[in-house]
Amino acid sequence: MKEQLNAIRIKFSQEIDEVQELQELENLRIEFLGKNGALTEILRGMGKLPKEDRPIMGALANEVRDELEAKIERRKEEIKESLLEEKIKSEWIDITLPGKKASIGHPHPSTLTIREIIDVFHSMGFVLEDGPEIETVLNNFDALNSPPDHPSRDMSDTFYFDEKHLLRTHTSPVQVRTMMKQKPPIRMISIGRCFRNDALDATHSPMFTQCEGLVIDEGITMGDLKGTLEQFVRLLFGADTESVFRPHNFPFTEPSAEVDITCFKCKGAGCRFCSGSGAIEILGCGMVHPAVLEHCGIDSEKYTGFAFGMGIERVAMLRYEIDDIRYLFENDQRFTRQFRR
Ligand code: PHE
Repeated sequence: MKEQLNAIRIKFSQEIDEVQELQELENLRIEFLGKNGALTEILRGMGKLPKEDRPIMGALANEVRDELEAKIERRKEEIKESLLEEKIKSEWIDITLPGKKASIGHPHPSTLTIREIIDVFHSMGFVLEDGPEIETVLNNFDALNSPPDHPSRDMSDTFYFDEKHLLRTHTSPVQVRTMMKQKPPIRMISIGRCFRNDALDATHSPMFTQCEGLVIDEGITMGDLKGTLEQFVRLLFGADTESVFRPHNFPFTEPSAEVDITCFKCKGAGCRFCSGSGAIEILGCGMVHPAVLEHCGIDSEKYTGFAFGMGIERVAMLRYEIDDIRYLFENDQRFTRQFRR
């Protein structure tokens, strides 16, 4: 029996040295110390020994069991430690490496232009109104006194969904919406996307942004329109900017005008920027047509008003000397980054 115990001891010592994993170690423990393990078998055979040998052999067997258990414990600690070390090694990061820089965004030049325009009109007491990009033909054309045969209503100029719905071609339907829900006095601007069936080139885009303004009250005259727009142009383009009101025609205003400003590049002398004319067209405007007021339930005998509209991209292009509208929509960072302040 002594030899058997010794053999167990030796075999165990050899095997435990090869164990690398906790599960293997557990298997080894079961093999030697488990219910049917090698050592347990021997202890079971104890009864067959002569009585006087039993205490000695019992003590020896216990000693071997304690030894095996201790070795298992120690090995367990060693394995755990090496697993931890491996984990630490695999998760190591070099905290001295330079970090990734988060790039901070900045407003797009069109957004900068919108903000400037809003600031100017806020300073003059205008309220910002909003309206949908999908409009009714009624709000976009009929309510604005646009005759059924007006060229802008043509399928080739306007994106229609069906007979009654379209992508708005201007922000003017927001005027209609505001007059329908609110009685005068009205002093509003509206800014938003508009859509026209134009081919994309350096100065046209099928999607663009407009800013529209409307003032309605008792006794509003063409003088108010001129004063307001002259002030707007000076605040946006500089105090020495002159405006020229050139007669024009819009269905929704009467009289109507287009406003040219002195070219801020050549101060009127004529240059490449203004095609030699010394002036740049900036907006359309006019006194609101009585038919538009009446359609919206406003007494045209009592109230008068003026309206104006301009293209945001066009203003941005003038403001920042951008010579192709496409730059404003392509979002090429080599372009937009130049507007970081
Ligand atoms: N809605 C006109 C356009 O898109 C601009 C405009 C607005 C003109 C208001 C006069 C008055 O061309």
